[in-house]
Formats: sequence, structure tokens, C-alpha cells
Amino acid sequence: LISKIGLIGCGTVGSGLLELLEKRADYIAGKYGVSFRLLFTTDAAKGTAFSKDGLNPRALLEILEKGGSIDASPKNTPNDLASLLEEAKPDIICEAAPTNYKTGEPGMGIITATLARGVNVVTCSKGALALDMAGLKGLAASKGVSLRFESSVMSGTPLISLVRGPMAGCEISKAEGILNGTTNFILTKMESGMDYSEALAEATRLGYAEADPTGDVEGFDAAVKVCILSAEFFGTPMRLEDVRRTGITGVTSEDIKRAAAGGGRIKLIAGVKKEGDSVTGYVSPETVGLDNPLASAPGATNAINITTDNLGVVTITGPGAGKMETAQGLLSDMLNVARGQL
Ligand code: HSE
Repeated sequence: LISKIGLIGCGTVGSGLLELLEKRADYIAGKYGVSFRLLFTTDAAKGTAFSKDGLNPRALLEILEKGGSIDASPKNTPNDLASLLEEAKPDIICEAAPTNYKTGEPGMGIITATLARGVNVVTCSKGALALDMAGLKGLAASKGVSLRFESSVMSGTPLISLVRGPMAGCEISKAEGILNGTTNFILTKMESGMDYSEALAEATRLGYAEADPTGDVEGFDAAVKVCILSAEFFGTPMRLEDVRRTGITGVTSEDIKRAAAGGGRIKLIAGVKKEGDSVTGYVSPETVGLDNPLASAPGATNAINITTDNLGVVTITGPGAGKMETAQGLLSDMLNVARGQL
């Protein structure tokens, strides 16, 4: 089965996906019978490459690693989304452009235009999903195509699929955990004596932090994920400004030592809970006891306790950020779409 794809955004995550497409092609074809053919890659800053026969991910990566433009033949290459979709007729668009939490752009425009043309979308665009998941899902449903976003929360750790699939039938009353890798990395490093700015610089270097890390450290990124979970788990849209939010910029080394002395750890806890008809969301640094599984998530690892009726509390933990980890979430969504799952 050949699945024709287009990649929008080839920064950290998009490059990670290119790496997986190259390195894992044989494994994917052997195990799943799927061959992804990359027809175009486009990036607001790095240009557009298009080939009806399929692009070579390695060749693109070599250009990107040198900081070059991927424009292969600028005169002939369609470079706006409508022409790319028209020329390439892809089966799936993988959207991995940087996300604006307030406007949802550029993801919102890209996802809407792609779904409207009846093309499946796989995305990690947190801003767009948080802003109007119901609208985007409705558009996808009206066109009979998929909108999948596993990597938007906990990167490739399969939270969304787990709740939709194996946990179907459970009613969730609360989901609370560590949903931002950057801040968890910083807090973990501060526990071993590194100072805040050094830890933030390392998180940025490792590809965990957003282009503007204010979104991470002030809790916006976790809050956006809370909005996504509210819409996905409860079908209740939540506005970013309605999430009670405190980031980690006020957490000092003394606070961390005090928590440790009391047998706990400070974690940036993000949650969404339903009481009666009311759904509330929150993000704030909390001291977590060592008996709580959330306390054992180090570095950029995320963890979430999902409280349900039929199973009690289910905890899932795994990578929460990172180039290859997020790319894996996109890849799993692409494979599910290629194999005919909505
Ligand atoms: N900046 C985000 C984080 C990336 O640190 O969790 C993954 O969504």
C-alpha cells in the first residue's frame, strides 16, 4: 500500500519525521505493508520541495542540517498550500509547524484548508486543537476523513489512543499529571543543583522547549494541553484563559529543597476534572508525595493519572517532548490513517 503524504513544517519535529521516514521505511513496509511516498515538504522559513515521484528524506535532511533552503526548482514548484494539494493529491498531510497558542495559527488555517479538500490530517498543532477541536473534528467528519493528533499531548506516548481505544467505555472524571517536558526537565535538573537558566538552555538545546520557551515556563503549553484533553475526554471546549494557570518561574531552589526535606517533589501539575456538569482545568506547581507515580517522572518524561469509573486510576508515563518522540506520535497516526482507521 502506497500512502502519498505531504509534510508541512520541517523544524525539529518535521525533521524527526523525515528521519523516521528514511530509517524505518523497510521496517514499516515489512511489518505494516505501508510505503509512505513524500510528495512535498513545505516550511514557511525553509521553502518548498515537491516531486510527483517522491522526495528523498535523506537529501532533504542534508540540506536542512546545513541550514539551507529546500526549494528544489523554485520556478516550477507550487508553493502555496492549495496548489500543493491540487498537484500532489496527497492521502495524508502531516502538519508540524510551530504553534501559536492564542491564534492557533498557522495550524488552524492549514488544517482547515486541508480537511476542507477531503484530505486526512495528522497534526501536533496544539494551538489549533485547543482553540476549536469540535469545529475541526466536525469538518473532518463532514468530509469523511481523519484528524489525528496523538503527538499533541505527551508527544508519542499514546494517551489519546489509549483512552479512545483500549479504555473505551470508561467514564473519566479527572486526568491530572505532568504534561510539559521542558518544565519537568528544569525542575529535575534544579533538584540536582543546576540553576534555572542553565536548565532552560539545556532543554532548548535538546529540542524540548517551544520556539518561545515562555509558553513552557509560564504554564501556557500545559494549559493548552488541558484544553485539548477537556475537549477530547469530556467533549467540553475550554478556553486557554479559563485554565487556572501558574508556571514555574516563581519556584526557587529553596522551595525544591523544602519539598525534598518533607519527602516530596515539586512538579508542574496540569489537570482537568469534571464535577457534575462543570469541567475545570488547572496548571500549577505542586508538592507531590513520592508515593504518587507522578513523582517518579524525571526529565522530559510526562505522566498522567486518569481517574475512571470502571478501572479506578490508570497511570500512563512516557516521553513528553523531543524530536523523535513527537515524530513517533505523528508516524503512528499516519500508519493508523493509512490502514484505514479514523
Ligand atoms: N514544549 C513542549 C514540552 C513540547 O516541553 O512539553 C511538547 O509538547
